[in-house]
Amino acid sequence: MNVVTYDSFENSTVATERLIGKHANNSLQQDYIAMVTHDLRTPLTNVRGFLELIAMGVYKDNPKLLKEQAQQAERNIDRLMRLIGDLLCAEKLLDGRLNLNASWIDAHDLANCSLEQFKFVAQRAGIQMSSQVSTDRIFADKDRLMQVLINLISNSIVATPKNGVISLNIHKTDEHFVLEVVDSGKGIPSTMLSKIFERFEQSDCATNESESGFGLGLAISKALVEAHGGTICVSSAQNFGSKFKVKLPVQNKA
Ligand SMILES: Nc1ncnc2c1ncn2[C@@H]1O[C@H](COP(=O)(O)OP(=O)(O)OP(=O)(O)O)[C@@H](O)[C@H]1O
Ligand SMILES: [Mg+2]
Repeated sequence: MNVVTYDSFENSTVATERLIGKHANNSLQQDYIAMVTHDLRTPLTNVRGFLELIAMGVYKDNPKLLKEQAQQAERNIDRLMRLIGDLLCAEKLLDGRLNLNASWIDAHDLANCSLEQFKFVAQRAGIQMSSQVSTDRIFADKDRLMQVLINLISNSIVATPKNGVISLNIHKTDEHFVLEVVDSGKGIPSTMLSKIFERFEQSDCATNESESGFGLGLAISKALVEAHGGTICVSSAQNFGSKFKVKLPVQNKA
């Protein structure tokens, strides 16, 4: 098994330059606009088409189809709102406008709240979820740290086949709180590892566009972890799985 590791901290200058490079580099800025426009336009076009069909009376005698397509339109609007939320969050992080609201949080509580969100999705996908959490308290912004864990776990769910396992581990060392999301999924190609924390980098695209992500989750997660003074790194072996490790500095505030 060939495990490859990428540490975002060691490469953070390059990655940050690439992230903010959109302001300095015209072609990157054009790519950025093209991708955002595409992601905004696709769900809007679908919803517009649906409204046109309603106005034409196409669903008059077919309430079942109307219901199905209304639900599809709802999913498109949700996707649009999620993209706008993610873009706003990314921009705020880049501008340093995101204020953290840190307090002491219970590691068990953090793990339970994060895993809770995936109970049904994991069950449906036949994935087993587990956790190993120490009894420590972590000094962090709970909502933002949950956002990081939820991003990592949702990626693992997408990458992990039926009968796979995902584990959330939290423990404390002398210097760090360490949070790990480990999966037995398809892994990440070594050529992709150094890029996945950049916006819009995806190793593959889901076949159904309305189900696919935007390539923002890890960029946002990295920025949120760095806003806490921490680092995030990944190691992965193709077809064996991936491990994302977040390290936050221990702050002696008690
Ligand atoms: N645990 C994982 N296993 C395999 N590939 C992964 C894993 N986590 C991330 N990736 C790869 O990294 C890419 C970038 O992840 P990221 O979370 O930034 O974007 P996304 O999940 O595609 O979209 P978004 O999170 O914005 O909905 C993913 O598209 C996927 O190719
Ligand atoms: Mg994601």
